[in-house]
Amino acid sequence: MTGRPLELAETVFRLYQDLLRRRTGFVLADAQRSRLESRLGAEARSAGSFYQLYGRLRNEPADSPLFGRLLDAAVNGETYFFRDPASLRALAEEIGPERLLAAGHDGVLDVWSAGCATGEEAYSLSIVLHERGILPGRKVRILGTDLSPAHVRRARSAVYGPQSLRATSPERLRESFEPAEGGHFRLKPALATPVLFEARSILDEPASGPLFDAILCRNVLIYLDQEARSRVVDVLASRLKPGGYILLGASDALAAAASPLTLVRLSNDVAYRR
Ligand SMILES: C[S@@+](CC[C@H](N)C(=O)[O-])C[C@H]1O[C@@H](n2cnc3c(N)ncnc32)[C@H](O)[C@@H]1O
Repeated sequence: MTGRPLELAETVFRLYQDLLRRRTGFVLADAQRSRLESRLGAEARSAGSFYQLYGRLRNEPADSPLFGRLLDAAVNGETYFFRDPASLRALAEEIGPERLLAAGHDGVLDVWSAGCATGEEAYSLSIVLHERGILPGRKVRILGTDLSPAHVRRARSAVYGPQSLRATSPERLRESFEPAEGGHFRLKPALATPVLFEARSILDEPASGPLFDAILCRNVLIYLDQEARSRVVDVLASRLKPGGYILLGASDALAAAASPLTLVRLSNDVAYRR
């Protein structure tokens, strides 16, 4: 028996907003109250109330399963394949070839999709690198990271429905995917293999983590408060190989304006360099 749905009162919702902002920089919009109420209903019921659940969450580390369920319930993971053709073209036609040339014959192209949601951005890049003939010939590593453990689990499954594929042409669907259960499509293994996913906040990145030739961080900074935005931009800048590029979304660009990054114009897009 599940009983009547529990109510998330506005005053308690504010506590959740504050907790998320403090721990992750994530700004949960007021309009998300009913979404949090329905998505965290089971956890609130087992804790006794939304207020008691808040009490538990406050003492949980950010990488615990319970805190992960709060993140899953709170974050907006809107994304789809080929959402941003200009940045994919810039990576496949300009940045990728330039960086591989600089890296020499055995060099590796390292790309990070920071705030990858359910993986469509990272996999779109793998597809265009195959189409341009860069893969499978050259060594490419694509890392996707996201705050939400549920998003990362879905990304690893590489199975997608019509919403995710709404901007994917029939030719690409035929070439890059195979039919899966329930009218969904699975990315072909050769395209999925170069891509790895990890669940963690950009703000919790290890200080001496791997360096990247290009970092995509699109439609992420807009959800963060000002302090978290500038910390994220600093983290991204510190993880570039010399001469590497950061590609932000148009709506994220303001966050970089106050950073030490320099805006560079490419034929297909704009990017930032240190
Ligand atoms: C709207 S999606 C954007 C997905 C993709 N980059 C795109 O442009 O299509 C935003 C994603 O950023 C993630 N996110 C927000 N703050 C983050 C942080 N501090 N670290 C990692 N991921 C974060 C959210 O979990 C969400 O999945």
